[in-house]
Amino acid sequence: MGLFQRAGLILDCHVHLLPPRRLLKLIEWARRFFPGHPVPETIALEELLAEFEAQGIRALLNFAHAIFPDETDVLNRFNHELATRYPQVLPVGTLHPESPEPLLVVSQCLDEYGFLGLKFHAFVQKFLPWEPRMRPVYEAVAARGRLLLQRYGCATCHGLAGEGGVVGPKLDLEELWRSDFQLVVRSGPGGMPALTADVLSDEDLETIYAYLKGIPQ
Ligand code: HEC
Repeated sequence: MGLFQRAGLILDCHVHLLPPRRLLKLIEWARRFFPGHPVPETIALEELLAEFEAQGIRALLNFAHAIFPDETDVLNRFNHELATRYPQVLPVGTLHPESPEPLLVVSQCLDEYGFLGLKFHAFVQKFLPWEPRMRPVYEAVAARGRLLLQRYGCATCHGLAGEGGVVGPKLDLEELWRSDFQLVVRSGPGGMPALTADVLSDEDLETIYAYLKGIPQ
């Protein structure tokens, strides 16, 4: 079953699962600034996950954001290992705008680790989202066909990588010609929504097609 089918309805309660040292710092910070808030003194990861499960939470998005550039790799590796150990954790990557090799981080998060995407925290990471230096990073993310499957909802039915889901069949394009692919997506056969050009551009459709065909991007 694809990750999104497992996630079902998403509620974002802004919870971070972090490596122990960072989590401890966050707990200290929360206790100082929100003394009345019931934050535990210490808490083990396993306890937290068991508690989530007892509450009926089937999956959780985890975002561990880098406050300093040199935390980027440590946190992404932590999130990757966490998600590998606990499949209910759906990892979202982090990238500090001052990381020396931002495009390598994008590739590691999205291609190697298979993260759901990248999330930034402009205030904590002290940058403006529209700064020109961020442009290549956004474009590198946008060029990943796998992420377009999420953005346009294809993943909900066909699975995160087009592997097939509860509703939609596996997207095996061995047999499907480019023109047929366009026709299918634009017309939406049997239960699939029709995605017209004003919703899904030809360019994005082409990127999705290339991704599904396994053409390197
Ligand atoms: C609401 C669920 C749903 C969504 C969202 C959805 N699809 Fe589908 N899709 C289906 C179903 C169901 C079929 C099978 C339809 C049939 O043949 O009767 C299908 C068929 C297809 C086929 C034809 C497969 C084949 O082998 O003939 C392609 C290609 C496809 N979808 C691509 C996409 C893409 C790309 C997106 C996103 C832009 C998308 N779909 C979004 C449900 C969905």
